[in-house]
This record gives sequence, structure tokens and C-alpha cells, in this order.
Amino acid sequence: MTRTVALTGMTGFIGRHIAENLLSRGFAVRALTRKPDTGTVTNVTWIKGSLEHPDALAELVDGADSVVHCAGVVRGHKESIFTEGNVTGSLRLMQAAEESRGCRRFLFISSLAARHPELSWYAKSKSVAEQQLTTMATQTSLGIFRPTAVYGPGDKELKPVLTWLLRGVLPCLGSPESRLSFIHVSDLAQAVGQWLASAPQPTRPCELCDGVDGGYNWQRLQEIGARVRQGPVRLVGVPLPVLKLLADISVFFAHLTRREPMLTRSKIHELTHHDWSASNKVCTEQITWRPEISLEHALRERLF
Ligand SMILES: NC(=O)c1ccc[n+]([C@@H]2O[C@H](COP(=O)([O-])OP(=O)(O)OC[C@H]3O[C@@H](n4cnc5c(N)ncnc54)[C@H](OP(=O)(O)O)[C@@H]3O)[C@@H](O)[C@H]2O)c1
Repeated sequence: MTRTVALTGMTGFIGRHIAENLLSRGFAVRALTRKPDTGTVTNVTWIKGSLEHPDALAELVDGADSVVHCAGVVRGHKESIFTEGNVTGSLRLMQAAEESRGCRRFLFISSLAARHPELSWYAKSKSVAEQQLTTMATQTSLGIFRPTAVYGPGDKELKPVLTWLLRGVLPCLGSPESRLSFIHVSDLAQAVGQWLASAPQPTRPCELCDGVDGGYNWQRLQEIGARVRQGPVRLVGVPLPVLKLLADISVFFAHLTRREPMLTRSKIHELTHHDWSASNKVCTEQITWRPEISLEHALRERLF
């Protein structure tokens, strides 16, 4: 059984929760960081470097029996940014794992978006990474997690939407009939811990969501919001031209502030896709895991 895990992305939203879960299970964690200040988390061995540094990746996996690869590029104004981070960076890490003495399991935190690589640069990069990692993993048993939209403490992307929902306003992107799904970050972190505690399985992409059959459409979200706040929720459609304008503004300001934008025209295709419902079927066949937090429960208990 795995005892030492090499973790990437621990300085981000999901990675932090995964680390907490692994530490609570008694795993030793070696974590990659680009930040000069690593804080005071105990029982974590920090390795300075990034997915661009093969030497740092070799050091990261040294002495680990498993890799959980959660680092990823989620924002960018052009395709090559996603390809470099999510494809090339992931392959460098797999190379380090393959060449290591003891690292025999590798869990790739992909995304439900990989189901539709045609939709966005991000989706394509995750899909290509999945395929190339699968080809490259010969000594290493590969797991692929495809979480849907993740929310919870520390998230900055969905939090504003959930906050507005509880104030009575729900911005609707795409068709009101579009299907969405969600997963609370602690359920995702729990699934990662369970994956490490389970026997290796053949590689099959595992979708992960909160287990609500068929997901949610916007009207269902509106109803849930109304129940939780005990008041009306107004569904406000955002027309495509407005969304495109917002994307252009976001790219412009990101350029001015030298940051990478989340909302781009490429991202719009993904956000407005008609079916992002997900199924836990493959995941629950592979590991003993059930999500515990529905969106309604999280809204009631303010678990975000
Ligand atoms: N959030 C979601 O709804 C969602 C849904 C499905 C899948 N995912 C996937 O889950 C993973 C984590 O997402 P998140 O929401 O936690 O994002 P996040 O908060 O932006 O965290 C991203 C993490 O990746 C690290 N990273 C990025 N590029 C790197 C590089 N070149 N070298 C080393 N580290 C690098 C970041 O390090 P720094 O702190 O140094 O920037 C950070 O720790 C990603 O792979 C994402 O695609 C997220």
C-alpha cells in the first residue's frame, strides 16, 4: 500500500484539500511548489520547482510510491499555454515517475471537460494529456479522474455564482435546459485518498460528481436556491454576444495586469455546452467511494 505520495498543485484550491485528506490518512506527502514561501504545514516535504523542471520532478518522486498530479493550467489567453502546462508538464512528471525506483502509481486529475476536446483549449489539453499519459505509462499504473465543476472552501470561480444564488440572482449561461453537475472538494479529496488505498485497476477515465442523477438544469438550480434562501431566485439569461464581450474585456484587462484570463472566447464554448451531467459509475466500480455532499446541502450549510 502507498505510504509516500508525490503531490503537485498543493498550493492551489483542490490540491490543498487533497493534501489534507492524505495527511489525515497517515500518508507522507512530498509536494511541488513554485512559491518561495511554503508556510508551516507539517508533515509535508516541499520540493521547490515546477512542471518545467525535470530535476525538481525527479526529486519530487524520489522515495514516493505514488504520484497525485493535481497541478494544472486552468486559465490562459492562447492554446500553447494549456498545451505546455497540461500536456508537456504532465508528460515530464510521468517521465520522472517511470524513471524512478519505486513510484508505481500515478493519478492524473484531468477534468470532465476532456470528454469534449473540441470545445476549448483547456478541454483539448486535458484530453491529449490523458491519451499521451496512457501511452507513456508502462511501469506505472495510471488512474484518470475527471471531476466536474468543483466548489468548496478556497474556490474562487464558483463561489461568486453560489453567493449570488443565495442572494436571489442566478446568471444563466447557454440554454436554460443545459445540464450541469458539481462536486464538493472534500468528496473529490476523499476519492483521491480512496484511490490510493485501493488496489491498482485498469486505466479508465473516472467521472466524479455529487451523484445527483442527470445533474442539474438551470431551473433546478433556481428551485434549490429558492428553497435554501426561502425566497425567490431570478434566473438572468446572459446572451452570447454579452458573454463574448465580457470575454474580450477579461482578456484585455488580463493583458494589462500581466495575468492570464479565465474567461476567453475559447472558454465560452465549454461554459455554454448543453450537457455537463456526469456519472460516478466507473469510479464506484473501481474504488469504494460515495459522494456525501449534495449541492443543496452545501448551500444550506454554507460549505463553500
Ligand atoms: N476547479 C475545478 O472546478 C476543476 C474541475 C475539474 C478539474 N480541475 C483540475 O484540478 C486541478 C487543480 O485545479 P484548481 O481548481 O485547484 O486550480 P488552481 O487553484 O489554479 O491550482 C492550480 C495548481 O497548479 C499549480 N501549477 C500550475 N501550473 C504549474 C506549473 N507549471 N508547475 C507547477 N505547478 C503548477 C499551481 O501552482 P501555483 O500556486 O504556483 O500557481 C496550483 O498549485 C487542475 O488540474 C484542474 O484542471 C479543476
